[in-house]
Amino acid sequence: MLDRFGRRIHNLRISVTDRCNYRCLYCMPEKVRFRPSPENLTFDEMLRMVRLSLRLGFTDFRVTGGEPLLRPGVLGFLEDLVKLEGVRRVAITTNGHLLGRHLEDLGRIGVRSINLSVDSLRPDRFRELSRGGDPAVVWDAMERAAADPRFSLKVNAVVLGGMNDDEIEDLAALTLARDLDVRFIEYMPFGYWEEAAPRQLVPASEILRRLRARFDLEPGESGEMDTGPAEYVRIRGARGRIGLIQPVSDKFCRDCNRMRLTADGRLKACLLIEEYRDVKGLLRNGGSDEDLLSLFGAETFGKPEKHRNYRMFSMNETGG
Ligand code: 5AD
Ligand code: SF4
Repeated sequence: MLDRFGRRIHNLRISVTDRCNYRCLYCMPEKVRFRPSPENLTFDEMLRMVRLSLRLGFTDFRVTGGEPLLRPGVLGFLEDLVKLEGVRRVAITTNGHLLGRHLEDLGRIGVRSINLSVDSLRPDRFRELSRGGDPAVVWDAMERAAADPRFSLKVNAVVLGGMNDDEIEDLAALTLARDLDVRFIEYMPFGYWEEAAPRQLVPASEILRRLRARFDLEPGESGEMDTGPAEYVRIRGARGRIGLIQPVSDKFCRDCNRMRLTADGRLKACLLIEEYRDVKGLLRNGGSDEDLLSLFGAETFGKPEKHRNYRMFSMNETGG
């Protein structure tokens, strides 16, 4: 589907749960109430939406959360998703806590792309940032995924001024000998934490400046698996690339090919907007395929050209 600005919308991000076993400082408060499970779409409901999206030319699917691997049955869902005709690529975004124990299954099922959040390489800081995350378990999963040729691995780090920005170089150095890309995500100052600790944003231009000061960088070529908004560079001679993601930028929006389906059944054309289409209402009240298809059409038509301002919301409710 083409939107009003000529962007081909073919990437559906499906959040399967708002739950998470981590509480990253920038994402959610320590005490958080999750939605009762029955309010979330069932996997069958999600698969119905996927089948309809395939008719509209969607080809790429990313399963997110919260932490998607927490939802019981998610592996079966992924397996069903991979098998559908017209599905080109199924990816997963995870905090890595449960990744190691499911890696073999993910490979067997045919999930080829993994985005893993690693915001710090220092164990104490990792625990502090994720409020209770287990750095050793995540590190082990990262190493195994990187060494497994079936997976394309992207390690995502949100850069927070005064928190982990002194690790930009160390994180970038992961690409030297490992088959993975490291992507620095400019912190989006919305949500709970910004109120307590404002002005933590380190612009992507500053991240790049620091990398250039340390490393000999060359432009990073685009791979066939790239459909996202990152701009890539490479340390000369390194195996992996370094990506820079500026979520609120013209480039990010210009290259946006995404639509989101939230766990509780809202279809959203843009991460940072309030508006959505109520898919769940239709799914649970006898909506026809045509009704649902028209929601995709309306949401695509309404997709804004650019983000508006940040506002209060939490990533775990929308899917990163
Ligand atoms: N700014 C930037 N990235 C964020 N994420 C969650 N909250 C924010 C934020 N405020 C990222 C996570 C993960 C992905 C799911 O979304 O770090 O990489
Ligand atoms: Fe969980 Fe990801 Fe949010 Fe961290 S950023 S609390 S891992 S959903």
